[in-house]
Amino acid sequence: MQTTFAPNQTTSPVNTDKASDWKPSDVESDLEKGQPYGKTYTKNMWYYALPSDKLKKGEIESKVMLGEPIVIGRDNEGKLFALRDICPHQAVPLSAGPFDGKELMCPFHGWKFDTSGTCTEIPSLCSDQKMNLCKIRTANYPVKEVLDSIWVYFGDAVSEADLPEVPYAPGLDGLKYQKNTVTLQLPTHIDYAVAALIDTAHVPYVHKSWWWRSAKSVKEKTKTYVPSGTGWTMVKHQPSKHSLAFKLIGKYLETEISFRLPGCRREYLTFNGTTFLAGITTLTPVDETHTELNHTTYWTLPIPKFLADPVLNYFVTTFLKQDQTLALLQENIINKYKPRLIMTIKDAGTPGHWYFLLKKEWNAATSEKRPFVNPIKETKLRWKT
Ligand code: FES
Ligand SMILES: [Fe+2]
Repeated sequence: MQTTFAPNQTTSPVNTDKASDWKPSDVESDLEKGQPYGKTYTKNMWYYALPSDKLKKGEIESKVMLGEPIVIGRDNEGKLFALRDICPHQAVPLSAGPFDGKELMCPFHGWKFDTSGTCTEIPSLCSDQKMNLCKIRTANYPVKEVLDSIWVYFGDAVSEADLPEVPYAPGLDGLKYQKNTVTLQLPTHIDYAVAALIDTAHVPYVHKSWWWRSAKSVKEKTKTYVPSGTGWTMVKHQPSKHSLAFKLIGKYLETEISFRLPGCRREYLTFNGTTFLAGITTLTPVDETHTELNHTTYWTLPIPKFLADPVLNYFVTTFLKQDQTLALLQENIINKYKPRLIMTIKDAGTPGHWYFLLKKEWNAATSEKRPFVNPIKETKLRWKT
């Protein structure tokens, strides 16, 4: 039976153990209610900021994250900090002034701020003009370094105990690795960027490269998904034989792919259960219409970084630019014509549907101060890709 879906309708994920169980759903999605597509962020979350090697002792970097100007720095002792990059005096970016490894100095009137964001000196004050400088502050953000990547927390947590876990990569625990990070900007809201990141149906159409695969190689697939953390894991399986890359590597490998809020996809390639290659893709909103994508490749094989870097930079950038081209086409339509999106279809679009369920539940759980309950149930999904 052929079923058509009206735009704005989405489907609910249904366990598809047997092909005969599969029924298209015409249930109108409630995902847009209270959580408009392409407008909100996942709150109270860690967001990827920078690869660690971009920030040496005594250095600062400025970035816009979730619509906020942020200055991230590493003091002379190696301790990280992240501050709102706005001088509370007259709104000049603190990152435009010097940092001596201890304090930032605003370039306008020379006010100084320590790495917690508190003012320590106002040079224009005469010796008898006393002010309580502690009350003059710019906001600070929790910041963490995990697997040689720097993450910044955006949310309401007031103590360390309230902070969620950084979406790190347990598959690399205890392993010695090298890494390469490629950064690229997508011209879309993070919701669209996540939808594309976890969508498998676009792969044979968008990622056409002689070294990857062609649209002709489309095959049917069945994968089992289980809820895990703030997302899901596609249970370990042998990697796709479509691609030349995987054909060359052989049949002794396993791959495990997972997703975590707010927009983090992890993929491990293992040999005899040990990770030798991992890819972590993170999405961080710059603002409502731009998202930064960072793809970090970790490898535990003895391949020197100076040899791996140019190869990874070429292949990863080529691959991601294919996504960027599509995102630009999509954004041109969204900006100009503002269609009410988005339709997801079973089963290929089910992860996109899950993303919204997860985000909605996470935002509700954190604002109600209750434990997050993962809304995903173990499910088999079938699709052609
Ligand atoms: S604006 Fe920063 S010191 Fe005046
Ligand atoms: Fe893609």
